[in-house]
Amino acid sequence: MTAPPRPTVGVIGWPIAHSRSPLIHNHWLAVHGLAGHYDRLPVPPEAIEGFLADFPASGLLGANVTIPYKEIAYRAVAARDPVADRLMAVNCLWLEAGRLMGANTDVEGFVANLDQTVPGWDAAAGSAFVLGAGGAARAVVDGLVHRGFQVRLANRTRPRAEALAALYPGAVTVHAFEDAQAAAEGAAVVVNTTSLGMKGEGEIPLRLDRLGPDSIVADIVYVPLETPFLATARAAGLRTVDGLGMLLHQAVPSFERWFGVRPAVTPALRARVEADLVP
Ligand code: ATR
Repeated sequence: MTAPPRPTVGVIGWPIAHSRSPLIHNHWLAVHGLAGHYDRLPVPPEAIEGFLADFPASGLLGANVTIPYKEIAYRAVAARDPVADRLMAVNCLWLEAGRLMGANTDVEGFVANLDQTVPGWDAAAGSAFVLGAGGAARAVVDGLVHRGFQVRLANRTRPRAEALAALYPGAVTVHAFEDAQAAAEGAAVVVNTTSLGMKGEGEIPLRLDRLGPDSIVADIVYVPLETPFLATARAAGLRTVDGLGMLLHQAVPSFERWFGVRPAVTPALRARVEADLVP
């Protein structure tokens, strides 16, 4: 007797070798006693269009999509959820009646992480400051605006910030990168979405000790787990939220969609991924 084929899911990207998504989803498959496996699926740029077109015949149950393919996946799917439409990016794929469907779970990942780490973080809403205007910033800004925040945005390349702000009329204001300090003052939530703070990158142009004592400081970078930005915030007595939580929480809706069980972001899962991040 041959065993029935295991439902297979995975993450598409290029490069993909360092993705922690297999660790997260395979942990949940084991916790819930489900058959299946989550793999890394390296797809080179010249093959991505064909890969997505052939997806319904691939035998895959679904997939996550990461850099640099979220926009191409958005265009390739037959239908998307409203968040993917707002971000024009898809990071979760599945099939419905043989058609390729797409969603974006990054916004939920960002807000669910804050909900779990700092319950009530949005109770008074108010203003937030976001540094950066790339793909990750889109999800962060969208989440903050939909939780009622006025967002102040600064990016090294100002036109990128202006293009992002234009998607949220009246809710996002653009500030010069050099004026980040002034723009961040008084913000209830401050988020770094740039790669500044990763090893070898430059410094973030913010004096966190000049923020209000109730400010919450978040970084979407998770290597290192505690970025210099977060370390400074913690030393200043501010509440901090690291990037690993967003990674863990953005995986929840994908797993639920594919396997019909809503998994939990537990200390055990976090510890497992943290151990893998140690250099
Ligand atoms: P992601 O999808 O991870 O957000 P991205 O779209 O490449 O990646 O965006 C990276 C962000 O980090 C951008 O806001 C980028 O600023 P630019 O739009 O000016 O490129 C920012 N960033 C990267 N390196 C930076 C640096 N050395 N100084 C300031 N900002 C930087």
